Amino acid sequence: MMKRILAIAFVCFAAQANAQNLLYIPDTLSGTTFDLTVHPDSVQFFPGAITHTLGINSHKYLGPTLILRKGDSVSITVNNQMGDTTTMHWHGLHVAPANDGGPMSMIMDGMMWNPQFVVRNNAATYWYHPHMMAKTAEQAIKGDAGLIIVRDNDEDTLALPRRYGVDDFPIIVQSAELDSQNQFMPKGMVDSIVLVNGTDSPYVSMPAQIVRMRLLNASGERTFNFGFSANKPFSVIGNDAGLLPAPVTTTRIRLSPGERAEVLIDLTGMDGDTTYLMSYASELPMGVQGGPTMPMPPWSPPMNSPLNGIDFNILRINVGPQTAAPVTTIPTALIADTPLLESMANATRTIHMTADSMMVMDGPFYFNHNLFDMDRIDYRIPLNNIEVWTLLDSTMVAHPFHLHDVHFYILDRNGVAPGPTERGRKDVLLIQPNETVRFIAQFTDFADTTTPYMYHCHILMHEDDGMMGQFVVGPVAEGVKNIIHTTNGVNIYPNPASSELNIRVEKTHMQGPASVKVTDIFGRGIYSGAFDDLLKINTTGWAKGLYNVTIIREDQTTIEKVVIR
Ligand code: C2O
Ligand code: CU
Ligand code: CU
Repeated sequence: MMKRILAIAFVCFAAQANAQNLLYIPDTLSGTTFDLTVHPDSVQFFPGAITHTLGINSHKYLGPTLILRKGDSVSITVNNQMGDTTTMHWHGLHVAPANDGGPMSMIMDGMMWNPQFVVRNNAATYWYHPHMMAKTAEQAIKGDAGLIIVRDNDEDTLALPRRYGVDDFPIIVQSAELDSQNQFMPKGMVDSIVLVNGTDSPYVSMPAQIVRMRLLNASGERTFNFGFSANKPFSVIGNDAGLLPAPVTTTRIRLSPGERAEVLIDLTGMDGDTTYLMSYASELPMGVQGGPTMPMPPWSPPMNSPLNGIDFNILRINVGPQTAAPVTTIPTALIADTPLLESMANATRTIHMTADSMMVMDGPFYFNHNLFDMDRIDYRIPLNNIEVWTLLDSTMVAHPFHLHDVHFYILDRNGVAPGPTERGRKDVLLIQPNETVRFIAQFTDFADTTTPYMYHCHILMHEDDGMMGQFVVGPVAEGVKNIIHTTNGVNIYPNPASSELNIRVEKTHMQGPASVKVTDIFGRGIYSGAFDDLLKINTTGWAKGLYNVTIIREDQTTIEKVVIR
């Protein structure tokens, strides 16, 4: 019986995807000064009642795409005309906590907020959305969100499609549940409509050449298992916070809420053909929202969305003629990026995700048995710390974990290195029931001991219900091990040091014994010695100040400055 309903649902959604609306392409704002006015609006999505929405500037739903350039100083004015208090968060951007738009940076109705910051992120696709305490789902799902494209010099030099709306497409995918009056139900889990850039049942025409799509899952809870019709292969070139070292050819990219991917698809020779961007959700495991509906205890709210566990079309692509100067080959190499190594870490933290019982499927869910408390700072992180965080999911459902401030690298999932598309810079990761995931991040640049950053589940209803914590990044404390890490695998820490200085060579870089010499600012020899992998130098009694450390291994010489205080 269930099978039959699913089969009917499938036919129904395939049919709905044939009712075609031209894909909306949000306009762009670029430069260094940006104005965003958030206002209530409405859209006739479906026959019958209009749907109340939140729009930004001239948009009735969602907002313009912001195009930022790395290194630029930008000023953004957010004008809140929505009729309620809100905030605005730049998801994935590395900015000071006061510019991050977390729950404490409230913008009252009728007021403006003007963060100013230097764009420090690498070229990639980011986004913006409100972060209002307990109201993020309501505001974001009504349409208060938009895309951010960061460009930089490294990306400029690559032969990639970058003509917005021509061969480089914003693809913001959201699923939602509407009530019988066509109004958004932000916490509804029977999400049966899928919008792309706010367009229901969309089609787009793309040229018969290599086309770039910037996929963002901006849904409240649903994970998509993206692919194309007939398993057409494509290349993933970037994930959350940067391009990958090289394109990865695949047929699927799974994105949970908040995650992004940039993909290239080769449509060469397909002029006149049709293909679909799809979600192969039948392949998602149970426990991931979007996979097969779990058997539910009677007290659970309805979760049996007709989209669960089936493959469905998201966007119809009509292939048209080639443009002038098309990109016709996929570059073999992209950018150099050296992940942080576990041997560099100087702190670890563990976050255990739990619920009141194993049967809970709709929350509340906890981090280390706590709900979010604005008055509690969960972690104080010394500036420049390199930390390994271990996440453990002991609930029945998967959670997209998001870290503010900095990107991270996934070290492993249940002890196994992540797949190639998860190896780059990330700011959201999906953790599944019974899984243990470890990542490494460095908390650079911004120290502010009073304004916190957030970490949270990006299932918006979980976040709103309290699956969130906060941390401040403090100044460098005495005794904090800040590491000098050189490209040839030498680590020197802590820096500044007081009583002991460690010099360590990473295993992969070991090439026999090394000699060490430490000199003061006048060039006087203070210490000399030799070691294989780790040397601990007792520095008690050394005068406070700056020293040069010279390490010679085979033909490699490393010279670094350290501070003794
Ligand atoms: Cu996209 Cu804290 O969020
Ligand atoms: Cu964020
Ligand atoms: Cu969650």
